[in-house]
Amino acid sequence: MIDTKLFVIEDPENLTAKDIENIGKAGDILKSGGLIAFPTETVYGLGGDALNPESSKKIYAAKGRPSDNPLIVHIADFEDLLKIADEVPAEARVLADTFWPGPLTIILKNNGTVPRETTGGLDTVAVRMPSDKVACALIRAAGGFIAAPSANTSGRPSPTKASHVMEDLSGRIEAVLDGGDVDIGLESTIVDLTGKTPAILRPGFITFDMIKNVLPDVTYDPAIINPESKEPPKAPGMKYRHYAPKGKLTVVKGEKTAVAKAMTELAKEKLKTGAKVGLMISAENTGLYDETVRPFVRIVGEQFNDGTIAHNLFAVLREFDEKEVDFIFSESFDSGKLSDAITNRLLKAAGYDVAEV
Ligand code: TXA
Ligand code: MG
Repeated sequence: MIDTKLFVIEDPENLTAKDIENIGKAGDILKSGGLIAFPTETVYGLGGDALNPESSKKIYAAKGRPSDNPLIVHIADFEDLLKIADEVPAEARVLADTFWPGPLTIILKNNGTVPRETTGGLDTVAVRMPSDKVACALIRAAGGFIAAPSANTSGRPSPTKASHVMEDLSGRIEAVLDGGDVDIGLESTIVDLTGKTPAILRPGFITFDMIKNVLPDVTYDPAIINPESKEPPKAPGMKYRHYAPKGKLTVVKGEKTAVAKAMTELAKEKLKTGAKVGLMISAENTGLYDETVRPFVRIVGEQFNDGTIAHNLFAVLREFDEKEVDFIFSESFDSGKLSDAITNRLLKAAGYDVAEV
């Protein structure tokens, strides 16, 4: 067991001298092969020195993650991309110009600098330049290249607060930098530029349309659109069950009044058996649920501003775990700007259990 330290960042937007000192200490720990969890604008990451194979092995062990699932390399300066990618095609420059720093990961050919332990044995490398100030300062303090998956135990919802990270990884890593709640709440969009045409391997806050605007021939990896397709997903991580709460999650889909009615009936049925239930709904639909089930309702966010749903989704799933909820019924949250990303995470969390009404 490691005694995991918690460094609370005093001001994540304007780092104080104390913050810089703590980030410096965390950078030294990374340089000497240790692991540090840190905030990014998407979710908390579990960082190790991306160029040190031993650090990457420790990341897999701490998360309990299959070692064929490659890690994203985080950089803070564009020049550093040129040190690890074999080729930086024009499309990569366009994406970086438009969306970096920010919630976008680009897959390029690896020039061999990043070890196979980090890339899960692939000859490509995933690279992201986060916008979070704590993340950028840590990357620089660590020498420029941090490998970081989401800082959760493999299979659990990604962490959006330092307390989530402590819950999963306390005793397994050297320290956590607590920069408060993350901004976005869902992991970065991943774009693969190593194929004939650009392909989105994981939907995120940077939407398909935003990417299509700058790369008109972009497509989705077929495995995202049709999870039952025979073709394996190009991002190895997308094949695993993910984000799963301990209770059984069912997504209920259809016209909103019919959905509310069905979710209410399902909840009442389970309550009769003595089970604990939770209902995930959008603020707009509150009036559709009567008093008998109100106590079990959790408003995830506002459908008309679905960034709020993205922001809270994983935290709500973890809340239900804490309350030991047995059955969770969720609205589908699929009519907004972020619906591709939200649906992708929600359906995975549900193991694709959908009730159409
Ligand atoms: O927002 C994010 O991307 C967060 C924060 C911490 O930056 N990180 C994150 O990492 O979500 P992780 O490890 O949970 O997800 C990385 C995904 C996995 O599905 C993995 O298979 C895929 O990226 N991936 C990484 N390298 C790849 C590569 N070379 N080719 C294809 N997929 C890759
Ligand atoms: Mg993850």
